[in-house]
Amino acid sequence: MNFHEIALNRQSCRSYDPDKAVDNEKITSILESARIAPSACNSQPYNITVCKGDKAKAVAKATQGMGMNKFTENAPVMIVISEGAYVKSAAIGSKIKGNDYRSIDIGIVSAYITAEATVQGLGTCILGWFDDSKIRNICDLSTPVRLVISLGYASADDNLRNKKRKSFDELIKTVE
Ligand SMILES: Cc1cc2nc3c(=O)[nH]c(=O)nc-3n(C[C@H](O)[C@H](O)[C@H](O)COP(=O)(O)O)c2cc1C
Repeated sequence: MNFHEIALNRQSCRSYDPDKAVDNEKITSILESARIAPSACNSQPYNITVCKGDKAKAVAKATQGMGMNKFTENAPVMIVISEGAYVKSAAIGSKIKGNDYRSIDIGIVSAYITAEATVQGLGTCILGWFDDSKIRNICDLSTPVRLVISLGYASADDNLRNKKRKSFDELIKTVE
C-alpha cells in the first residue's frame, strides 16, 4: 500500500472480531513504526503501554463511561498513550511559544500507530473518551493518559466506509 492507500483504508474500527488474536510480531511492527515518529526537539514526550488479556478488558471498560465506546469490549489489545517528560528545549520552546507540543506529538505517534496497523491488516480506533485515573491504576502509570487506541481484527461485516470530510476548498487555502 502506498501512503494514500493507507490513508484511505484506515478508519475507526468499532466492531472487532473477539475470536481473532493479534500476533506479537504485528504488535511489534506497529510499535517499531511508533518509535520512529517525529516529535518536537525529538522529545518523544509520551509512554506507550500495550494492554492484553485481562488488562485490555479492564482498560476497555474504562473507555465505556456514559454508554460510550461499547465496541472496545471485543478489542483484544488496548494501547495506552500517557504523557512523558519533555526534553529541556521542547519544554522551554513550548512555554515561550505557548504551543502544546506534547499533545501534537501524541497525535502524530497515534497516527503512526493507526497507519502501521492498517498496513498489518488490523483495525484501530483512537479514543479520547476514557477514565484517566482508572487507566492509570490498571497500568500503574504516574502521568496523565492522553489517548487510548483499540486494536484488533475488524469483524467480517465491518466494511470500508466513505470518508466524510470537509471539501478540499473548505479545508485548504493557498497563498502566494
Ligand atoms: C483525538 C481523537 C479522539 C477520538 N475519540 C473517540 C472516541 O472516544 N470514540 C470513538 O468511537 N471514536 C473516537 N475518535 C474517532 C473519530 O470519531 C474519527 O476519527 C472520525 O470521526 C473520522 O472517522 P474515521 O476515523 O473512521 O475516518 C477519536 C479520534 C481522535 C483523533
